[in-house]
Amino acid sequence: MSRNTVLSLLREQEDFLSGQELSRRLGLSRAAIWKAVDALRRDGYDIEARSGLGYRLRAAPDALTETEIRNFLGKTAVIGRDLRCYPELDSTNNLAKSLTQTSAPDGTAIIADCQTAGRGRMSRSFQSPKGKGIYLSALLRPGLPPNRLPPVTALAGVAVCAAVERVCGVRPGLKWPNDPVLDGKKLCGILTEMSLEAESGHVQALVVGIGVNVLQTPEDFSPEVREVATSLLQAIGKPVSRPRLAAALLEELDRVYAALRTGDLRDCHAAYCRDCVNLGRTVRLLPAGGGPEETAEAVGIDEEFALIVQGPNGTRRTVRSGEVSVRGLWGYAE
Ligand code: BTN
Repeated sequence: MSRNTVLSLLREQEDFLSGQELSRRLGLSRAAIWKAVDALRRDGYDIEARSGLGYRLRAAPDALTETEIRNFLGKTAVIGRDLRCYPELDSTNNLAKSLTQTSAPDGTAIIADCQTAGRGRMSRSFQSPKGKGIYLSALLRPGLPPNRLPPVTALAGVAVCAAVERVCGVRPGLKWPNDPVLDGKKLCGILTEMSLEAESGHVQALVVGIGVNVLQTPEDFSPEVREVATSLLQAIGKPVSRPRLAAALLEELDRVYAALRTGDLRDCHAAYCRDCVNLGRTVRLLPAGGGPEETAEAVGIDEEFALIVQGPNGTRRTVRSGEVSVRGLWGYAE
């Protein structure tokens, strides 16, 4: 694709590169170079052309395209080696789930710029406006027994925190079980879905869906969501490159996925415990099926990343995601 080769040469070069030099290096006609530059401009690349000097890349778009994400992506063992990017999907999880039955490899990553029917936990919707967030699903085929899989969603939370820290210099907290939060508000939602083999009950594949709020202003959220949600733009006060963050996220997911496969989750568990904003605090426990709310101290995280709580009479018990929702004493997170 001459478009991508022209782009790579322009990225390498800080100064102008003449049309003649481009055509010599790429073995393309001057007309083909001009067509490639024109196509890049239509995709949002700001390319300056000066007569006698040639072309210079002034700025790349904040686009969740494979080209832009790969520009920032280092080598990963599994996640994102097969990377599929779309301007719009109903839900990246839906597409990833439909790939389960195909030959799509372990670690296939689906990324969309916008979702028209983004899904959250407990049949909620996930607001996914165009050009604002990162909507990503990873198709995993870990080949592990079901008892090794409960930590997956928590590990995805750790990966999000690490990626945000690398790119933005601030580390979100984690509201148990897996909501990355900043300033006490939700920054990201994670939805893991499993497909089982009908006959054996074995796990065929997992889809881990992650939606990060990056560039939303308060007006981009509905009034109810605005109360509890934030974006990186709101929390740190400046725009963040979505392709850079998407690449960091793929790398961090690759790291935690390797840990899941080896079974050595000690580092991830320690990171989770450091990040968890509920530990050492009083939490409100809201039973999933309704029923009376309780308060308890959040005292630990077990090896399956379930929450250990201590009631007012001193007895300890473990609560699992799906059984209860947790809220802070004063707000959504703390
Ligand atoms: C939640 O907080 O309830 C989970 C939200 C998960 C949203 C992500 S966005 C990418 C993927 N596709 C979806 O439809 N949902 C997940």
